[in-house]
Amino acid sequence: MSQADLKSEMLQAMRRLAKSVTIITTSNGQERFAMSATAVDSLSTEPPSLLICVNKTASLHAVLDAGADFCVNILGHEQEELSHLCSGPVKGEARFQRGDWRNSVDGIPYLGDAQSAILCRQDGKFSYGTHTIFIGRIQQIHNSTRISPLVYLDGTYTTTAPAPSLAAVG
Ligand SMILES: Cc1cc2nc3c(=O)[nH]c(=O)nc-3n(C[C@H](O)[C@H](O)[C@H](O)COP(=O)(O)O)c2cc1C
Repeated sequence: MSQADLKSEMLQAMRRLAKSVTIITTSNGQERFAMSATAVDSLSTEPPSLLICVNKTASLHAVLDAGADFCVNILGHEQEELSHLCSGPVKGEARFQRGDWRNSVDGIPYLGDAQSAILCRQDGKFSYGTHTIFIGRIQQIHNSTRISPLVYLDGTYTTTAPAPSLAAVG
């Protein structure tokens, strides 16, 4: 298969990989930055850590590349508008015009009503092709009481339905 065909088939494969939508936030001390992202995953629980994959063209990449800490804000299904805002033409501070944004004691923005806001100290990075993988050592977590994430699947936004309980099925 040619490289072009592989890329096309990979994009088709990724349409089948349901991912919770997050907004990654960071700050350089003067300005806050936010970006929608699904290339986010847990890394380990010992130590508690996760990883994010950020395109080198993204405006917050330079801030993260300089070593800034960050937060992974997992969105709820009602927060699709925030994902559009943080992946569209509006840039920089203007991305914080909507949403219950607060600041951690270290000055990293986090979303007060996210499904979960996971504050991380940056603890490593790895450059690969167009992207950099940043490792976050988890420092603090704000979890909401309900689980109803915004999900990206087949190029569109959706959410998860509660699984039927075994009692209901049987
Ligand atoms: C649902 C969704 C998921 C995305 N996931 C990622 C991601 O994991 N990594 C990434 O670098 N960009 C991702 N993007 C693209 C960035 O959000 C988008 O390019 C953003 O505009 C980059 O920030 P900038 O405009 O400040 O440069 C995603 C966009 C959407 C809509």
